[in-house]
Amino acid sequence: MLPAYLPNPVAALTGGGTPVDFSRNYTDGRRIFGDGKTWRGLIVGIFAGVGIGTIQILAADAWGIRFLPGLTFPAVILLATGALLGDLVKSFFKRRCGVERGAKWPIADQYDLVAGAFLLLLIFDSAWLFSRVTLPVFIIILILTPILHRVVNIIGFAIKVKEVPW
Ligand code: CTP
Ligand code: MG
Repeated sequence: MLPAYLPNPVAALTGGGTPVDFSRNYTDGRRIFGDGKTWRGLIVGIFAGVGIGTIQILAADAWGIRFLPGLTFPAVILLATGALLGDLVKSFFKRRCGVERGAKWPIADQYDLVAGAFLLLLIFDSAWLFSRVTLPVFIIILILTPILHRVVNIIGFAIKVKEVPW
């Protein structure tokens, strides 16, 4: 899951500049995605996820690390891209519901990356998804994700990368 988990914190560290929606509003008069979704965060975040996944693949090859669950390059790209597309789609619906940028939106804020990553895998590499993400693995991901999300956001707040601890 590292290729899916890394893009969000990297986007928070490196984001800024031109927003993905180019500051445009939707038909309801609110922003399409908001200032929290920028091109730099999106692109650097995806590259970071693909980078860590590539390192995982190379490490598994070099040292024959058996516990790494057979990551492949397509899976790495889908995990990283899906994570930030999920985050983007979440922000779209967050704005439609009138929730301000950065405000808390429980459940969606925690699971957007998992939903996005697994949806892309389901569409483009379902064989990998079903062979690697078995039910116990899926349950562990569902438990681990909100815990990691909380811990990383508290760290982000403490080091002043995030304005709020969620
Ligand atoms: N970020 C970015 N580009 C992205 C995703 C995130 O630049 N595609 C950066 C932004 O600086 C953002 C921070 O990472 O403020 C934290 O991300 P997130 O919590 O997802 O955004 P929020 O600011 O909370 O916005 P939203 O309410 O839309 O989720
Ligand atoms: Mg947020």
